[in-house]
Amino acid sequence: MRRRRLLGLSLELLLLPLAAAAAVMAGRQRSLDRGPAERVVPRPARGGAGCHGEVIASDPAGTPLGLSSRCPHLGCRVDRVQDGELVCPCHGSRFALDGALRQGPAAEGLQRLSCAPTPDGARLTIRLPG
Ligand code: FES
Repeated sequence: MRRRRLLGLSLELLLLPLAAAAAVMAGRQRSLDRGPAERVVPRPARGGAGCHGEVIASDPAGTPLGLSSRCPHLGCRVDRVQDGELVCPCHGSRFALDGALRQGPAAEGLQRLSCAPTPDGARLTIRLPG
């Protein structure tokens, strides 16, 4: 009886990591099935930009752009527009409205994201990186 119980417990201990791995794989597959996430945000006026969480909607010259708000320096969220530039609050990196680096310590510009106006033209759909 004890041997049978011990054998059952050993089997459970062996199967537990397999069950955990299967749950992780199932979660990954579900997130792949959903496709890349999108954000729908107000379309900025020409020459303006708006920070919306993980994305920035910008329109430097009449063509709307989507940018990642993740600062390429250490990953803080660029969250404001100041004097026509996008500013990272952590260490002061500054970016042009098209995402180009203007001032470090970041060594590169903001990542561009796929974006398209909604049918009514009032908002932008910005696709998050996969
Ligand atoms: S994280 Fe943005 S400047 Fe350092």
